[in-house]
Amino acid sequence: MNQNFISFEGGEGSGKTTIIKQLKIDLEKQGFKVLQTREPGGSEIAEGIRQIILNIANVKMDPRTEALLYAASRRQHLVEVILPALQNGNIVLCDRFVDSSLAYQGYARGLGINQIYELNRFAIEDLLPGLTIYLDLDPEIGLRRIKDNNRACNRLDLESLEFHKKVREGYILIAKQYPTRIKVVNGSLSKEKLYEGVKKIVLDYFNINGD
Ligand code: TYD
Repeated sequence: MNQNFISFEGGEGSGKTTIIKQLKIDLEKQGFKVLQTREPGGSEIAEGIRQIILNIANVKMDPRTEALLYAASRRQHLVEVILPALQNGNIVLCDRFVDSSLAYQGYARGLGINQIYELNRFAIEDLLPGLTIYLDLDPEIGLRRIKDNNRACNRLDLESLEFHKKVREGYILIAKQYPTRIKVVNGSLSKEKLYEGVKKIVLDYFNINGD
């Protein structure tokens, strides 16, 4: 576990990226060095793996292959980007980390949360975030947001609504499994309220007075 490592989780269109950007600005105002990064990808090799995983042409990808590729991409990203940034005294804000694999591959794809955790232990060597913010949102709303924003569609966006509902169920189970690390936030709140809620959790976590 690393105190300065914070991950953000949620289904498609849950607003992670917008929140991370704003949080980076606010933490920098408080004098912190902050690195914003994302999975899958975040380094040249890991981005290469991302292209393979998310390519809509790869419809034949086996679920275990998918899980292994996410873990491989995570490993490379950890070694090349996250660990050096932590060693240099940064707070790392990461858009998705191991809980995405637990929810998507472990639960929604049915490979098993514990099995996928074991697979990922090899990749992350027990380096879990100190804090994880899970933005909980009905996938019907999230998928509609993506459509309205014209975000490019990837292979996982093409999955059925049922799949995305399972992802949400998976996240809720995982959040119950790690109640100290994972904080659940209601993703259907207005942008402003949602951000205020997340900011308060993060400032409290670092014992900073937000005023
Ligand atoms: P991305 O375009 O980054 O989506 P988002 O903006 O929602 O994060 O695509 C990442 C996709 O990969 C997303 O559908 C979630 C999925 N994913 C997994 O299935 N397992 C994982 O371990 C990770 C990191 C992502």
